[in-house]
Amino acid sequence: MTATQESPTAADSGANASQSFKAMASTQDVADTPPERVAAIVTSVLKGVHDAIAEHDVTYAEFNAAKAWLMSVGEGGEWPLFMDVFVEHAVEEQVAKSQHGTKGSILGPYYLPGQTRLDATCRLPRRDDEQGTPLVLEGQVRDVDGTPMPGAEVDIWHADADGYYSGFAPHVPDGNLRGVVVTDDEGRFAIETIQPAPYQIPHDGPTGQLIEASGWHPWRPAHLHIQVRAEGHRPITTQLYFAGGEYLDSDVAEATKPELVIDPQDDGTGTRRSTYDFELEPEA
Ligand code: DHB
Ligand code: FE
Repeated sequence: MTATQESPTAADSGANASQSFKAMASTQDVADTPPERVAAIVTSVLKGVHDAIAEHDVTYAEFNAAKAWLMSVGEGGEWPLFMDVFVEHAVEEQVAKSQHGTKGSILGPYYLPGQTRLDATCRLPRRDDEQGTPLVLEGQVRDVDGTPMPGAEVDIWHADADGYYSGFAPHVPDGNLRGVVVTDDEGRFAIETIQPAPYQIPHDGPTGQLIEASGWHPWRPAHLHIQVRAEGHRPITTQLYFAGGEYLDSDVAEATKPELVIDPQDDGTGTRRSTYDFELEPEA
């Protein structure tokens, strides 16, 4: 990374994440929750807050600090970041209870739909001088009954060797290290890319303030985001992590699972390779 390079601020990535979420939310997953259920859920959330106030004997000064902080999260556009780091994993774990096949993980705020479609054996779009250890992820997409799935989409996106995502960092070109890989006749794929770095959630804004005020750290272990889709099957949104990687046991977003850790090995040419197969269940 060069000294002159512009790093994204929390406000920039927050604004981009808000925009991208609004664009997606208008087309999918809009809840039509009946009033009794809204009341039941909100009552439980508020009970948690009220109980915490009683348990910790919260003062007016602390209540006002919390109010000011919540306002700044909104003003800074950080709600998507906050929700995906601190809340999404619990929703994912709940949904996972009824999901068979490959384990899922959180989507996070940096998914962008409509990326370039690539052949089964491919290299993800990258800069001419892209830094980082070459990495190849290969595998097969199958139904949970073992049937290979040709034409499945392996939608992959990840941070660069400095931990930045294209679309959310001004110095990284659009579409960098993103692509929709289409599996071959045998449902196989082989994706060449580079090893991502651990990722630090934007910490110069209110979410960062909270993390610092609590004595936590803002890191996620290095990861690949992957969404696998195939006709007639329940899509799977997941992440792959790297054996021995820093922060694997202290992910700020609590989104790691042992089944999602890969251990790429050097193939003798300086490229690290790993195999990972994905299994999708039929749509209900
Ligand atoms: C965040 C970023 C990620 O890359 C991720 O996987 C989850 C959360 C975030 O900044 O909120
Ligand atoms: Fe991520």
